[in-house]
Amino acid sequence: MTAPILRRLNDLRAEHGTWIRAGESVAVVPTMGALHAGHLSLVEAACAACDRVIVTIFVNPRQFNNAADLANYPRTEHEDAIKLAGLDVDVIYVPDGDQIYPDGYATNVSVSGVADVLDGEFRHGHFDGVATVVAKLFLQTGAQKAYFGQKDFQQLMVVKRMARDLDIPIEVIGCATVREASGLAMSSRNLRLSPEGLERAAKLYPVMQQVAARLVGGESFAPLADEARIKLQAAGFNDIEYFDLRCEEHLQLLDRPTRPARLLVAAWMDGIRLIDNIEVDELKA
Ligand code: PAF
Repeated sequence: MTAPILRRLNDLRAEHGTWIRAGESVAVVPTMGALHAGHLSLVEAACAACDRVIVTIFVNPRQFNNAADLANYPRTEHEDAIKLAGLDVDVIYVPDGDQIYPDGYATNVSVSGVADVLDGEFRHGHFDGVATVVAKLFLQTGAQKAYFGQKDFQQLMVVKRMARDLDIPIEVIGCATVREASGLAMSSRNLRLSPEGLERAAKLYPVMQQVAARLVGGESFAPLADEARIKLQAAGFNDIEYFDLRCEEHLQLLDRPTRPARLLVAAWMDGIRLIDNIEVDELKA
């Protein structure tokens, strides 16, 4: 059955109030729509853990640092609702713009540290926009658990930090990246790649896997990164913004995975910015 679409905060609160009075647990899955199997896996995890599930769809203007990117972001509300119909979702919250940013809105949530590196360097203001909207969605939905994909690993770390720092009583849960059969991480942005672009973009994952395997074999990162950049350029990635090995907790640079570590990449293919990351097994001393 299709879940009701609510666009006003008062309606969401009314629904939420009846759940809480009945002692039911509530999960939220925040999205910007254009749902794919990665999002659906988050919804499934939420449905398995909580009595009630809210999926939010809001293309948040404050997290786009490029007007064309915002204008071109896919908006597929009808198809999204159909995809969610097969799952046990209770409400799809698609807030009108003024429900998030009413007239005179003046508050910004800004996380430092984990938000300053990687995408924080290349997409100025992006994580302020993410932290602000996610804080609002946490407070508006009153959920006890929230589900995010590890595909946006830095975002996950930023959101966890924000919720802890602001004492928002919610558990933030990261779920494994879902990949196409080709290995390409699922992303709403993949919709904008041509068939050839999709094929070339799929070269990213094996290159990352090879680097991760060689790190675990004891090699140091710098020469591996140089080799990987050359391979990615040959595959058609024309601008590799970062190809970094970083510790998971604080996202500090590493040369060897001596702590829980991730390999994180952002690179452009055919005018589309793609990001991906994988876990690297820790080297035991
Ligand atoms: O990952 C996303 O789709 C967005 O950044 C999020 C978390 C829904 C906030 O707008």
